[in-house]
Amino acid sequence: MSTVGWHLCLVCELLVLIIAVSENVRANLPTFDEDSRMRILLLPFATRAGSTIYRVRASDPDFDHPLEFSFTSLKHPKLLSLEILPCGKQHSVCEANVILNEAVELDKIYELSLSVRDTSGGITTVFCTIQATNASSSATDSFQHLNQYLTVPENLPRDSVVDYFIARKNPNNIRGIRVELRQSWNFRIADKLAGSDRTNCSIILEQPLDFETQTVHILRILAVNAYVDNRLDTRNVVEVVIYVFVMDVQDTPPFFVRAPPITAVSDKLEIGKVVLRVKAEDGDKGNPRDIHYVIMVDNNPFAPFFFMEPQTGELKVRKKLVPLNQMVRSKAPFLLTIMAEELGSLINEANTTTTVDIALMVEDETNDPPEFNSDRYAVFYVWFLTNL
Ligand SMILES: *[C@@H]1O[C@H](CO)[C@@H](O)[C@H](O)[C@H]1NC(C)=O
Ligand SMILES: *[C@@H]1O[C@H](CO)[C@@H](O)[C@H](O)[C@H]1NC(C)=O
Ligand SMILES: *[C@@H]1O[C@H](CO)[C@@H](O)[C@H](O)[C@H]1NC(C)=O
Repeated sequence: MSTVGWHLCLVCELLVLIIAVSENVRANLPTFDEDSRMRILLLPFATRAGSTIYRVRASDPDFDHPLEFSFTSLKHPKLLSLEILPCGKQHSVCEANVILNEAVELDKIYELSLSVRDTSGGITTVFCTIQATNASSSATDSFQHLNQYLTVPENLPRDSVVDYFIARKNPNNIRGIRVELRQSWNFRIADKLAGSDRTNCSIILEQPLDFETQTVHILRILAVNAYVDNRLDTRNVVEVVIYVFVMDVQDTPPFFVRAPPITAVSDKLEIGKVVLRVKAEDGDKGNPRDIHYVIMVDNNPFAPFFFMEPQTGELKVRKKLVPLNQMVRSKAPFLLTIMAEELGSLINEANTTTTVDIALMVEDETNDPPEFNSDRYAVFYVWFLTNL
């Protein structure tokens, strides 16, 4: 009996020890900020799925950063997701954006638990509820002068102010308002206080735009501690999306989509017959102009034998081709330069023309019956390509 009692006592002592150790660990657990741990969140039921609804903050007494946040919910495991913000030893708090993944139903209550874990394994969990309310989800309470659809010409200089909006602070929150632009490389936000309860945010072009690369930029703007009607809405982040449409400016030259590099032409081809066809398109895709084509005559002795249909890009025979046999050594290719020009371009406008060189090879069928010797053809073809 006494040995059993002694064993029990050992167990007791061990338990005391374990409790003491765990008390010690608990003292160094990460903790949520009192005012941003999302205990009871009133959320407008029409909040758009995909938008940020909260920013949770936590700190760790040992700075075992980064802190890892997570949600669990038996009934609604996919309701929320988290976007954990970068956090290092030098940060006093770590933060995560809470993103609503699914639409919520009016008056329904969602139960979840929110955990934060430090790098040494300490975990703190709090229980949260989200209640969907009939509060307005329009951004007009939180923002003024907010234009969600902007159009900007693609040649706008860097550092230009594209537009501005005013974000109002939540008077019930002791923290100031902070406006952030997420994941945008072309734009940045510069804000300056505009009174005690609002800030004036300018959207500034950071990197030049190019219509041909990207026609719409979606700016995800988070206003932390923005004004909401706290009776029905306790979000501490209001997200708005601004769409910036890029307007095409005529700045890209046309390019050839068809220009056969080498073409064999019979010297018997009659006047007016089509030798080949080229095609070019305006590089400006927003409002492409029609293209017309010309042969660059310069001092090219071969140019007068051909003419170009300006609209269709058809190269046709202008004069009898037989004399060409005397002008070129047997079957040597010669070059013609074709220019594609955007119709309706202005004088002095840059990037409206492109040229391409095409090679023609006359087949002497009048004097010397054709011998379509594929070896010779191949030799000339290679000769031509290596001498380009
Ligand atoms: C929203 O709900 C509250 C009570 O929950 C009610 O007093 C109010 O009239 C409702 N507002 C609208 C716009 O339905
Ligand atoms: C906000 O800033 C913009 C430009 O930065 C300025 O034009 C506008 O007048 C300012 N508005 C207020 C209310 O401060
Ligand atoms: C002409 O096109 C080039 C390359 O596409 C571009 O870098 C240049 O800025 C354009 N020039 C003008 C005046 O738009």
